[in-house]
Amino acid sequence: MAGRFLPLNLVLGLLLASLTASAPLVLGESRLRRRDAGQSCSDASMNALPWTAQDFDFHSSVTFSTPAHQIVGGWVSFSLRNPALPFAMSCFASSSQLQEFFYGDQWFSCSAPPDAATVSEAEFRFDRATGRFDISQNWVCPDADPQSRITFNASGTTTVPLDCATSRWQNGNWSTGHVYSTESVECGLLNVTIVPNDLEAWS
Ligand SMILES: *[C@@H]1O[C@H](CO)[C@@H](O)[C@H](O)[C@H]1NC(C)=O
Ligand SMILES: *[C@@H]1O[C@H](CO)[C@@H](O)[C@H](O)[C@H]1NC(C)=O
Ligand SMILES: *[C@@H]1O[C@H](CO)[C@@H](O)[C@H](O)[C@H]1NC(C)=O
Repeated sequence: MAGRFLPLNLVLGLLLASLTASAPLVLGESRLRRRDAGQSCSDASMNALPWTAQDFDFHSSVTFSTPAHQIVGGWVSFSLRNPALPFAMSCFASSSQLQEFFYGDQWFSCSAPPDAATVSEAEFRFDRATGRFDISQNWVCPDADPQSRITFNASGTTTVPLDCATSRWQNGNWSTGHVYSTESVECGLLNVTIVPNDLEAWS
């Protein structure tokens, strides 16, 4: 997107420079409610968010339908909440790439609800082995005067501290037509906070 950069960008750059050394944060429910009813979209955007990836889930399963045939899948899902916006984006990805399923090398798109109050695109990537989790989002504030609309584009990185359990089951008396074995990984849901380490604004 071409456009005229605002002096604002410099201010944000300085503000965000001091936030880049952020440690991974996972907040409890009470701190997630701090979105002020009075805070405008532009104010929230300029206050550097942060995002919440709500109910972050990773799970996977490997099922052998016969000793020689496997069905594999890994899934990531969460709701992306940006305190500047009145709606959440739905983020979902699936993979069949053994062993880790997600390698942090591919961006997956999130989707806005059909009745979203403004335009926003968001994407994420995830590395299962290290927990590295990247978010990128752009948005236009719905409350702004159409003549002076500012587009924001922010990105951030954190580490998701997944706590997972693996369960294995094998059919001790397997015969054709029955599942031979399954191995599934389930992780507790997390609300993950991501502070932008880069935020641009232009009109
Ligand atoms: C934000 O800007 C960067 C760099 O221009 C771009 O690669 C990225 O796709 C943008 N993010 C979104 C969600 O549009
Ligand atoms: C194993 O399966 C066969 C055929 O279904 C059955 O006849 C046999 O009793 C089973 N054995 C055990 C130990 O469950
Ligand atoms: C995440 O936050 C939401 C909203 O406060 C809450 O309903 C949910 O239970 C939280 N989930 C976890 C895993 O803490």
